[in-house]
Amino acid sequence: MAALIISGGNPLYGKIKMQGSKNAVLPLMAASLVIPGKTTLLGCPRISDVFAMTDLLRKVGAKVLWQEDTLCIDASVVQPVVIGPEDTKSTRACILLLGALISRCRSAVMAYPGGCAIGKRPVDIHLAAFKQLKVCVTEGEQISCDASKLCGAEISLTFPSVGATQNIVLAAVCGRGVTRIHNAAREPEVAWLCRFLVQAGAKISGIGTAHLLIEGVERLHEITFSVPPDRIVTGTYLAAVMSAGGEIQMTNVCPEELTAVIRPIVQAGGAVRVLEKEIIAKKRGRLAAFDYLCTEPYPGFPTDMQSLFLALAATANGTSVIEEKIFEARFGVAKELARLGARIWVDGACALVDGQRTLRGNSVHAGDLRGAAALLVAALGAEGTTQLTGVEFLERGYENIWEGMSGLGADIRME
Ligand code: EPZ
Repeated sequence: MAALIISGGNPLYGKIKMQGSKNAVLPLMAASLVIPGKTTLLGCPRISDVFAMTDLLRKVGAKVLWQEDTLCIDASVVQPVVIGPEDTKSTRACILLLGALISRCRSAVMAYPGGCAIGKRPVDIHLAAFKQLKVCVTEGEQISCDASKLCGAEISLTFPSVGATQNIVLAAVCGRGVTRIHNAAREPEVAWLCRFLVQAGAKISGIGTAHLLIEGVERLHEITFSVPPDRIVTGTYLAAVMSAGGEIQMTNVCPEELTAVIRPIVQAGGAVRVLEKEIIAKKRGRLAAFDYLCTEPYPGFPTDMQSLFLALAATANGTSVIEEKIFEARFGVAKELARLGARIWVDGACALVDGQRTLRGNSVHAGDLRGAAALLVAALGAEGTTQLTGVEFLERGYENIWEGMSGLGADIRME
């Protein structure tokens, strides 16, 4: 089993370019199936979730090839083959193929995507919306969609689900009539998908708001699109320097997408300078505790940064309270942080953290993507050496993160 060996205590210094966004590129890859021709994605991150999605695109007939960090997709020919459980367990984003195939082929059959360590992650909101679009959805061993009668609708989401919003947009973009989505997710990854589709000829308004209007068009055309920077990877490097100390400059950044992440860091005593496409972050002594942080839909504090802030709270000065309002089981990393000396009490959706002056290295195992990142961040600031297993979780979303940290001065190696 691969393991990262991290000797803590080295401050981080230097400049690093942020990778393309995992949670933006996966919907764009699904959307490429709606375009009967070539889609070129520039600045695509080489991460295992993207590799899994390329396999899915090939499975339904698309041709996909890499040219360095450019992904070239040709979806001239697409057929709605059954996407089985062996495919859907690889990445949650597979669910977005339903919407894309509904638009392109008026038909889709897929096994249920698996849950994961952070929650059951049902797809009821997705399927209820498809039914409103007059898709005949049959649920059993798998999800079967017959969209021969696809028709625009007015949909009010019970929760601003990111994936459900994206799936509805994908299903409606080449449907018949007008679809309105109320209480739509406002995450940047929804807006980037809409911008991509508009550039390909779609008619979408309200981009970036909770009210989207999609007017179905006959056909989309080929495009080349740059993958936006990954806001959670940027937040991860920001957390790393606040854990290990030092001063780093992050380039290829969308600072406006990180307001809710930067604010608590500054309030806790971190120094953060925001330039147009760069962030310079410096640790100025021990962080103060986070009096109360709660995860919310965008533009609130992102759930994907919750584990990282749990790690920062573990050595902050005072008691922090962090509430997780998006996923029902996203404090799994707390018990591994406790093996490093963190004092965390979890009660339902809330975690209370009694900040220690320092953590101490130990062997720890990651159970999910952002939990793995949180353990890495904690280990960088801990005394002594940490062995981190579950590295495959990191590779799902972070491109070369340990080489990136090592380049900034961290003592870290893969074993
Ligand atoms: C996306 O997941 C992201 N994944 C997640 O990032 C992110 O945490 C999440 O949005 C919230 O921001 C990708 O973009 C690939 P949701 P998604 O639908 O779309 C419940 C990471 O670490 N729900 O907004 O699945 C659901 O169970 C990953 O990069 C239903 O109940 O998130 C959850 O509690 C983790 N029924 C909440 O809504 C549904 O039909 C938010 O889910 C759909 C969702």
